[in-house]
Amino acid sequence: MSLKTLVKNSLKSLHLASNDRPTFSPEHFDAHVMTTYGRFPIALTRGRGCYVWDDQGRRYLDFVAGIATCTLGHAHAAMVEAVTQQIQTLHHVSNLYYVPEQGALAHWLVTHSCADRAFFCNSGAEANEGAIKLARKYAHTKRGIANPMIITAQASFHGRTLATITATGQPKYQKNFDPLMPGFAYVPYNDIAALEAMVADLDRETPQVAAIMLEALQGEGGVCPGDRNYFQRIREICNDTGILLIMDEVQVGMGRTGTLWGYENLGIEPDIFTSAKGLGGGIPIGAMLCKAFCDVFEPGDHASTFGGNPFACKVGLTVCQTLEAENLLANVQLRGEQLRFGLQRLVQQYPTLLQQVRGWGLINGLVLQPEAPFTSVDIVKAAMDEGLLLVPAGPQVVRFVPPLIVNADEVQQALIAVEKALAMVVKRQPT
Ligand SMILES: Cc1ncc(COP(=O)(O)O)c(C=O)c1O
Repeated sequence: MSLKTLVKNSLKSLHLASNDRPTFSPEHFDAHVMTTYGRFPIALTRGRGCYVWDDQGRRYLDFVAGIATCTLGHAHAAMVEAVTQQIQTLHHVSNLYYVPEQGALAHWLVTHSCADRAFFCNSGAEANEGAIKLARKYAHTKRGIANPMIITAQASFHGRTLATITATGQPKYQKNFDPLMPGFAYVPYNDIAALEAMVADLDRETPQVAAIMLEALQGEGGVCPGDRNYFQRIREICNDTGILLIMDEVQVGMGRTGTLWGYENLGIEPDIFTSAKGLGGGIPIGAMLCKAFCDVFEPGDHASTFGGNPFACKVGLTVCQTLEAENLLANVQLRGEQLRFGLQRLVQQYPTLLQQVRGWGLINGLVLQPEAPFTSVDIVKAAMDEGLLLVPAGPQVVRFVPPLIVNADEVQQALIAVEKALAMVVKRQPT
């Protein structure tokens, strides 16, 4: 065996190419990575703007954006610069010390929201854990509640940790992971009578309800926007009782709906809200923000080794500043309208298969008719064949969550691809 072959083979066994990029083999992947995802059969290796490429060099228009995460698309110059500059300067130190980048990001967030304080972590689930802990401590220490309850919505999604799967009102995420956390109760979303009845029931003898925790628009639950009157009445209930309102902004925050925060669409302010996904534009970061009156955390109450490190915070701040500098909220509104208009035409074209289009800004769902002879996954697969990445939100909803920098031409291309994909799926149905 020549020296060259020997080196090549040993690199292969490390699954590294000679340019240090991991080579891809589905067999190795499936042998070593836990099968927690049902994966589509492509491997993405490069991205730029709203496009990604697979390991075969095939280009896709990315209307998934890491599931509503890559706010600025891929390889955005501002992110490349921030990442490069910060990794060369200081990437991690403990929260035992002041981290200026963390302070700067907190300042931006509180001056652009209803909150006064921020706690940083690494993900949406971790941010929601923080919110749950804060609400429980507030209930114990400020309201004398011994067994605090948090009301969440059916069809909600709040993460995959034990507390957040319990908060998530979807049994499919909880199955086989019991015992779940105590202290949660569920109500149908957008149903004020059900919520009032639950509060009355739980608080019948002595106040127990610590918080109501909701998404402004349910993303994973099928792209269901919150109702304005519902949220305004909830705000009144919280004001009257001292119950905290927690909004999970993990999927809809950071400009995705055309306003910076999803709650702005509802004309209310939460007491606590959480952010992640779009906040880092694809670099892991989470944040839990609250109004000053309910910030009951003291040193030692809550912590995160990586949370708020200079690297993630510098990138987060860059994403926030770029949202402003590139006027992306206006882009989200315009491109969202264009997308919904185009999808609406498809609904008119296929009334027996497609039910409606719903969403805000650049989080939209194409909803299938219950009797459609195919699922959202079938459309997602056909769209992939047309060079468009989409993501299901349950079996009946196809979700469109492109980067917020998407332009008119790219939205048009996506509409053409989805129309072709739909025609293909329809053609494949037995007659
Ligand atoms: C509304 C909402 N909350 C929480 C989460 C969990 O976030 P993460 O996956 O970063 O833990 C998600 C993820 O999809 C989400 O959509």
